[in-house]
Amino acid sequence: MFRCRFNFSLLGNRLRGRFYCAQTARHVPVMARETIQFLKPQDGELYIDMTFGAGGHTRAILEVAPGAKIVALDRDPVAYEMAQNLAVEYPGQIFPLLGKFSELPEKLKEMDIEQRGVDGMVFDFGASSMQFDEGSRGFSISKNGPLDMRMDRDRCLDEPSAADVLSVIDQQDLARILKVYGEEKHAKTIARAIVEARHTLKRIVTTKELADLVQSCCGVEKRLDKLQRVSHPATKTFQALRIFVNNELNEINYAMLLAKHYLKIGGKMITITFHSLEDTIVKRHVMGNVLDDMANKLPLRYNSHTICHGQEVMEAVMRSPWHQLTKPVAVPSYEEVEENPRSRSAKLRAVVRVS
Ligand SMILES: C[S@@+](CC[C@H](N)C(=O)[O-])C[C@H]1O[C@@H](n2cnc3c(N)ncnc32)[C@H](O)[C@@H]1O
Repeated sequence: MFRCRFNFSLLGNRLRGRFYCAQTARHVPVMARETIQFLKPQDGELYIDMTFGAGGHTRAILEVAPGAKIVALDRDPVAYEMAQNLAVEYPGQIFPLLGKFSELPEKLKEMDIEQRGVDGMVFDFGASSMQFDEGSRGFSISKNGPLDMRMDRDRCLDEPSAADVLSVIDQQDLARILKVYGEEKHAKTIARAIVEARHTLKRIVTTKELADLVQSCCGVEKRLDKLQRVSHPATKTFQALRIFVNNELNEINYAMLLAKHYLKIGGKMITITFHSLEDTIVKRHVMGNVLDDMANKLPLRYNSHTICHGQEVMEAVMRSPWHQLTKPVAVPSYEEVEENPRSRSAKLRAVVRVS
């Protein structure tokens, strides 16, 4: 891993003036300068910002390629509204789409965008500051609100909120979610406390109720984040539930297949991930370490030290349609982490579609 130390003075100042200001945008785009460095956007080309959010990366593309066209996808109706506003500023250039990665093909079909029709795709995974900071969305430990966590809000009728999940889930399944999606070492204790609380609280319906409950069962131990700041004992529980409610990892896996399908040969994909679960899926795809297009499954049979495969098998497994521009990843500069602590765990991968 290397720390990006490119000289972006010119572009950097323009981006800083326009995007790095909390007053003008509520979500500060992470690694926008590195995204542009690797994407090298050109006028007349077609890009998809797969995670529009507040549009930070879209604006960064338009800053250097004012004649580019950008499909702006987001599953969150709030972000979609922001994309619609930006489309008014850039008539005929921004095409807002409301939907998940898994809903993209039908939407692109309506727009006549076909296989190998796109020059670049940008993914800035996870939740936005607008989602985290708005108590009523239920993502935040520090702001009380309904325990919701659905990025889609009420858009998908069959999608349960985090409160719905906690009201019915089996204790063992919950422990597994907390362990796998939250990497929470007290997963079993927390799962037991949540299930037992159903008998007393009846239903955990607010973020504060959940945060307090987790703190009460494993709060004595002091936890530190990557910047050595004290973090709330429920941080990992919240992360795990968010990933589960939004089916985030399966969405990412599917998104990697979409990138392979829609990018032209020579087209570029930029991914920004914030934890190892996300990055592992991206990494497997860009390294060609995907079997039968099922990325969430560990290809253990190829990892076992007891089996020795022939060259042909190994080449077939490892053949990748991607050439990596970042080897292996770029991370934010010290200055960016200082200015925007949310960027601290970001990893950027940039790849070109080669076959
Ligand atoms: C980190 S934010 C992106 C911020 C954006 N790059 C910016 O600079 O303003 C991630 C966004 O991706 C959206 N998102 C997450 N998973 C998605 C999915 N499966 N399909 C579509 N959008 C998704 C979220 O709703 C959120 O708005």
